[in-house]
Amino acid sequence: MPEIDVSEKEKQFYVDIPAKNEPFFLKGSNNLDWGMKNRLSKIFNPKSGKTVMLAIDHGYFQGPTTGLERVDVTILPLLEHCDTLMLTRGIMRSIIPPTFAKGIVLRASGGPSVLNELSNEQIAIDIDEAIRLNVAAMAVQVFIGGTFETQSVHNMTRLVDLGNRYGIPVLGVTAVGKDMGRDAKYMRLASRIIAELGVSYVKTYYVPEDFDTVVASCPVPIVIAGGKKLSELDALTMAYNAIQDGAAGVDMGRNIFQSDAPVAMIKALRKVVHDGEKPKSAYDFFLTEKNKAQ
Ligand code: R5P
Repeated sequence: MPEIDVSEKEKQFYVDIPAKNEPFFLKGSNNLDWGMKNRLSKIFNPKSGKTVMLAIDHGYFQGPTTGLERVDVTILPLLEHCDTLMLTRGIMRSIIPPTFAKGIVLRASGGPSVLNELSNEQIAIDIDEAIRLNVAAMAVQVFIGGTFETQSVHNMTRLVDLGNRYGIPVLGVTAVGKDMGRDAKYMRLASRIIAELGVSYVKTYYVPEDFDTVVASCPVPIVIAGGKKLSELDALTMAYNAIQDGAAGVDMGRNIFQSDAPVAMIKALRKVVHDGEKPKSAYDFFLTEKNKAQ
């Protein structure tokens, strides 16, 4: 039995104050369930509506990628500066401290290595394992136009069904193979198909021309992958342009961990993504931070 409410203070029902009923801050996400929204809030900053995801999952198909040979040495110092970490369960369990309390986006598809046909992926995790690891989202590669296009789409829709059952969002990753397009027309096609089939957000590559139409035609948030290593100024410029075109953030790997000054780079990137800082000014900040560290 609860104690009887014996307070002599007069009860206050605030009858003149309407109940708050604010829409959720992310595009296309208002009708999701509470758990799903809570997990998305561990990925996207509710104040800026954006995210700096640090992607370190490259080893799942290409082994010890340059900059990721020793995740404990090179990546742990970056964790305090990212909003979210995208990785495999192997690296997560073996290296990432369980005290890391930000969102984890778990690589949930895999199979072929760089030595084989990359689109021949399958689901590479059980939903129980994703729940056990307390992840904020699961990431699946989708190969629109690829040899195993249908199989990869089915991997995604199966993960969306499982994720919806337990309130775990799915990130659909547009995988661009050797012979696939890298223009707005292709990115619109791939991103829209992925969103239509139920993911909570989409990762794609930035294209300089008409990227705003890729974002506009996708009903859920889009984040951009970084791609191969560019100069720091070029990478900051790409992130700036993507944000100006409506992207909800970056999911960047090599342009951070292959930089000469990864901590300075991710800090500069945060300024671009969360504060809308111009590329040149963010680059000057990068140089200052880099020199401080030397
Ligand atoms: C690639 O398939 C991986 O999923 C990476 O997470 C993704 O490409 C982002 O990393 P990067 O910025 O190095 O392209």
